[in-house]
Amino acid sequence: MVTAYDYSSAVHVDSAGIDLILVGDSAAMVAHGHGNTLPISLDLMLEHCRAVVRGAQRPLIVGDLPFGSYESSAAQAVESAVRLVKEGGVDAVKMEGGAPSRVSAARAIVEAGIAVMGHVGLTPQAISVLGGFRAQGKTIDSALKVVEAALALQEAGCFAVVLECVPSPVAAAATQALQIPTIRHRGWISVLVYHDLLGMFHSPDHSKVTPKFCKQFGNVGAVITKALTEYREEVEARSFPDAICTPYKMSCKDADDFA
Ligand code: KIV
Ligand code: NA
Repeated sequence: MVTAYDYSSAVHVDSAGIDLILVGDSAAMVAHGHGNTLPISLDLMLEHCRAVVRGAQRPLIVGDLPFGSYESSAAQAVESAVRLVKEGGVDAVKMEGGAPSRVSAARAIVEAGIAVMGHVGLTPQAISVLGGFRAQGKTIDSALKVVEAALALQEAGCFAVVLECVPSPVAAAATQALQIPTIRHRGWISVLVYHDLLGMFHSPDHSKVTPKFCKQFGNVGAVITKALTEYREEVEARSFPDAICTPYKMSCKDADDFA
């Protein structure tokens, strides 16, 4: 599973034969430059979902329920999930957390006919109570909480669960305890954020949106910067566009159109 946020990233992920696309609320960080995932709205997520759906034919497309769109009640969760499917065009939704109210919300969404992917461990939408982007499940108590939450989400009808930033043995225990697939992030490569995987942000200025523990499979950011720099340099040196299209060689009519 890889994230995608727009038409071109969806085309690329589909062309690579990847099975699942997550339209993640990580869009808030990598597409909009925020420091965490909290600010993105459901309306903006819907725009991202629609663009991804236009670009990807084969993969299963999962849309993230953003912060503020499902916590108040099971009814609010169903309403938001229905919008992601009906207006956004996604095949399934993902929601964070395994507290009893979240499990009830997941169950209500499944009962409404929408497949739900759970997400436990580090749940970035809860950064305020977690105190930062920190590994979860590092003590026996919190490891048990992660596994129990995953089990409760399975019981509620989730078709898969993301285990984000939990120690390997805890992820392995959860995976063994569950019948549904587990999808691991940050340290395990079953799901990666598109921009992280491709090395889209290669400068230290962007360290806030790039986790250091993610394996980078490409260096696309450097390729983009090089191409843009070459373009700027050629235009400044007047070697591009070539002479034939410069205004003084155009016919009068073309020059008028140009102006
Ligand atoms: O929003 C996201 O990209 C995610 C994955 C990293 C699991 O939730
Ligand atoms: Na997310």
